[in-house]
Amino acid sequence: MSASEDFKWKLTNYIYNKNYNFDRKKILDICDENNVIDAYKTISGWKGYEPTPLISLNKLSRKLKLNNIFYKDESKRFHLKSFKALGGAYAVEKAASKNKNLTVTTATAGNHGRSVAWGAQRLGLNCKIFISEYVSEARANSMRNLDAEVIRVNGNYEKSLEECVTQANKNGWEIIQDVAWENYETVPKLTMAGYSVMIKEISNQTNQYITHVFLQAGVGGMASGAIAGIAKYFKRIPKIIIVEPENADCVLKSIDKGSLQKVDIKKESIMGGMSCGEVSLVPWKILKESVNICTSISDENVDITISMLKNKILGDEEIIGGECSSPGIISLIACSEDSEIKKNLGLEESSNILIIGCEGDADENLYNKLLFTGNKKLLK
Ligand SMILES: Cc1ncc(COP(=O)(O)O)c(C=O)c1O
Repeated sequence: MSASEDFKWKLTNYIYNKNYNFDRKKILDICDENNVIDAYKTISGWKGYEPTPLISLNKLSRKLKLNNIFYKDESKRFHLKSFKALGGAYAVEKAASKNKNLTVTTATAGNHGRSVAWGAQRLGLNCKIFISEYVSEARANSMRNLDAEVIRVNGNYEKSLEECVTQANKNGWEIIQDVAWENYETVPKLTMAGYSVMIKEISNQTNQYITHVFLQAGVGGMASGAIAGIAKYFKRIPKIIIVEPENADCVLKSIDKGSLQKVDIKKESIMGGMSCGEVSLVPWKILKESVNICTSISDENVDITISMLKNKILGDEEIIGGECSSPGIISLIACSEDSEIKKNLGLEESSNILIIGCEGDADENLYNKLLFTGNKKLLK
């Protein structure tokens, strides 16, 4: 099967960053370099820690005429199946170092809550997780299985966060949120530092200089955590490409205007973890000067990409990549097929691309559904 011959994929939108000025020191001041150093030291000491695989998508790189495409497979992150295991659990551990009798709480689309619940379970803390009506029961159950109490709130993610903050203030619980707001920056900085561990591992896993990094964004925590890792651990600064769902392109709109912009999400993307209408405050301080280009994509090719990963169409290994693992690949293919973007980004035969495979089948039902429809498209 050679689905790669049929790519005619397009970005919905893209925008170059007029304010690009990658400044390692500034980035590491914002994120706090000590957090970045401590995150790797702490997390690499956890029982069961192993770096996640860095897999070559050699078939895709041949097709796109690129030197290497490296896929960081976060489906193997502890047993939590997503990079989020690095953030929330690390922040819980830091919060608990000051108070051993904490009740921790958070609002979540799923993976972050699972990380917080796991962090709490590891340390024997009580944990209360708030979820919106859109979070699947499969995701809720995965948090219950980690001993968390899961509270469902009517409305969207913002409503679940409001309820979480209200209850935390009333009951004296510690909020472990990955989103920053005014006067709430310490914990989000810790979660970002946790995510930088992916980049530390990559710097040990290859001696090829990465030239381009595709970073998915919801509220921007993962992207800015990875950028902090790049500022700390990479000798050469790669081009940084953000990818978002077309209906939740808050980073793109903010980069375009040069200031924080809110997006009113009209239709939730299938890439649920990335369906966010507002960039988080601390990530924004990093993203606004360190990304080269923002791209947005539709949901259309998510399922076929999941299927291609699973069926070894892109590389030699079978990869379980969930809905948020596909956007980096989709954006890379679309950028490579647009001659102007390809030229501007310098995507050429010597390029070494990094894609973050954020999650595995964290929501098994959804994964199986998308794999099924993706397989059907692949066989057409
Ligand atoms: C599962 C999942 N959730 C959420 C996100 C978004 O992360 P953030 O909200 O930190 O930008 C991603 C990747 O971008 C993801 O893969």
